[in-house]
Amino acid sequence: MDYAATGEQAQTRIDAASELDALEQLRVEFMGKQGSISGLLKTLGALSADERQIVGPQIHALRESVSAALAERKQALESAALAEQLARDTLDLTLPAPEAPRGSIHPVSQVMDELAEIFADLGFAVATGPEIEDDWHNFTALNIPESHPARAMHDTFYFPEHNDAQSGTTQHNASRMLLRTHTSPVQIRSMLEHGAPLRIIAPGRVYRSDSDATHTPMFHQVEGLVIDKGIHLGHLKWTLETFLKAFFEREDIVLRLRPSYFPFTEPSVEVDVGFALVGSKRVLGGSGDAPGHGWMELLGSGMVNRKVIAAGGLDPDEWQGFAFGVGVDRLAMLKYGMDDLRAFFDGDVRWLAHYGFSPFDVPTLSAGVGTAA
Ligand code: PHE
Repeated sequence: MDYAATGEQAQTRIDAASELDALEQLRVEFMGKQGSISGLLKTLGALSADERQIVGPQIHALRESVSAALAERKQALESAALAEQLARDTLDLTLPAPEAPRGSIHPVSQVMDELAEIFADLGFAVATGPEIEDDWHNFTALNIPESHPARAMHDTFYFPEHNDAQSGTTQHNASRMLLRTHTSPVQIRSMLEHGAPLRIIAPGRVYRSDSDATHTPMFHQVEGLVIDKGIHLGHLKWTLETFLKAFFEREDIVLRLRPSYFPFTEPSVEVDVGFALVGSKRVLGGSGDAPGHGWMELLGSGMVNRKVIAAGGLDPDEWQGFAFGVGVDRLAMLKYGMDDLRAFFDGDVRWLAHYGFSPFDVPTLSAGVGTAA
């Protein structure tokens, strides 16, 4: 066989390839597993040692030259393609620059940052818990046993009950999963995880099957919990007053504490804040009993029920505490003047442009926690 002639033929065909695809086909034809040159190499095994001495170097030389020709042609085709692309692609430097990416911080995020800032100054850490919660943390441990009417009040979204096909039993209620209806289960989780003393706030999403201008199926709460020795209602009142004055940036915030009922606090205290009617707008500040003033319900709170402290793994004879829960969206509406809660979750960029915050408006106590939107 004339290996030199075979080489020349291959070289001619390679030089004629005008596309990378065609070149690749040639590579497979010659050098691929089933390729002609690969086939020649395989014949070497059947030759005698003497024959192999002669034929071997020839086949190897053929292989070398074809592979070099392929590489060279590939390089040439690639640089031609690049040159062509560079000639084709032009950049018009006279076009206007693209608009800078725009976005804003959602008022809920902003308010949560403001809360974290205010409470960090009072020595509170930020805690979190799962939004998909079990029945025990959301209800039972908070002294809301099964059949308690408070469960019905919470309009809970339950997950389907899990049937254990093998034992034929239905999953026990305490481990039934639900979307948490409030941030209070984080009280339990924090006590179990960190013990006492404890000072936390727990902001986050909560879910209830409810929807109108002031209720959405998902909304935000922030929970507050203090566990220590000798804690009493005075601590609760001072903490809420200090927090609300800092949050609304007014010294004249006046609170009214009313007896109330929550299963997880005893006593329970509903907290109202005084406002003045200016036209049709409610402006927070001053006593709600003054002429032209009123009281607005703001949050629920109380001294942590002994049973809840015990469910958190602590001795209620040793540890006391207070807790509160407040709607974050509601705080945002009161501070920044939105009147429809549903718009919070519509994702309308016009609303966000109007009510959103610049990423540079980082709330700090020294510079003001609520830089105007
Ligand atoms: N979890 C209560 C609610 O969602 C609020 C609350 C929290 C009340 C802590 C008292 C103490 O309405």
